[in-house]
Amino acid sequence: MTATRIEAWTGQQFAVRVQECMHIYVRAMHYPESAGVHRAVSARKHTDHEGFACRAAIADDGTLVGFGYGYTTRPGQWWHDLVRRALDRDTARDWLHDAFELSELHVLPSRQRQGIGQRLLTSLADGIPHANMLLSTPDADTRAFRMYRRQGFVDLTRNYLFPGDSRPFAVLGARLPLADGD
Ligand SMILES: CC(C)(COP(=O)(O)OP(=O)(O)OC[C@H]1O[C@@H](n2cnc3c(N)ncnc32)[C@H](O)[C@@H]1OP(=O)(O)O)[C@@H](O)C(=O)NCCC(=O)NCCS
Repeated sequence: MTATRIEAWTGQQFAVRVQECMHIYVRAMHYPESAGVHRAVSARKHTDHEGFACRAAIADDGTLVGFGYGYTTRPGQWWHDLVRRALDRDTARDWLHDAFELSELHVLPSRQRQGIGQRLLTSLADGIPHANMLLSTPDADTRAFRMYRRQGFVDLTRNYLFPGDSRPFAVLGARLPLADGD
C-alpha cells in the first residue's frame, strides 16, 4: 500500500484542481461524468464562502485520491435554509449557529477502506474554529454513514427529501472537537 498525506488547501488551490476533485466525486458517488461538470461550477463558487476549509489526500506519486471541504453555514444558503425548515425550532437554534457545513467528502473507490476518509474528516474538524459540524448524507447503511456515527455524529433529522433528489437523506451533526472514533 502506498503512503498518503493529508494537505490543507486554500480555496485557490482547490479551484485549480477542481476537475480532479470532480473526477473523484463522480466515481465515489457512481454519478455520470456530466454531474461532475455541473458540480464543479458550484464547488468553485463555494470557495468564496466565509470559513471555507478544504483537505486533500495525496498519494506519494502526487495523485489526488480524496478530498473534503465545507464552509460556515449561513441563512441565505440553499442547504442552510432547507435544513432550517426541516428541523424543529429548538434543534435549529441549537445546531445552526457557529456551524461548519461539510459540503463534500469523497475518496476514490480504489483507495477506500484505508482510513483516508476518516483522516480527511478529522483533519478538517481539527482545523476549524466552529462549535458544530453539520452534513447531509444518504439515509442508508453506507460507509459514509458508519464513519460519521463512529465520529460521534447524531441525528438532526432523518428521511429528509431535498428538492430534486428522490433519495432520503439524514442530516447529522457533531459537536467539535470530534469524539475519538478509534
Ligand atoms: C465515505 C468515504 C469518504 C469514506 O472514506 P474511506 O477512506 O473509505 O473511509 P475509511 O477508510 O476511513 O473507513 C471506511 C471503512 O474502512 C475501514 N477501514 C479503515 N482503515 C482500514 C484498514 N487499514 N484496513 C481495512 N479496513 C479499514 C473502516 O473501519 C470502515 O469500515 P466500514 O465501512 O465497515 O464502517 C468514502 O467511502 C466515499 O467516498 N464514499 C462514497 C462517497 C460518499 O458517500 N461520500 C460522503 C457523502 S456525505
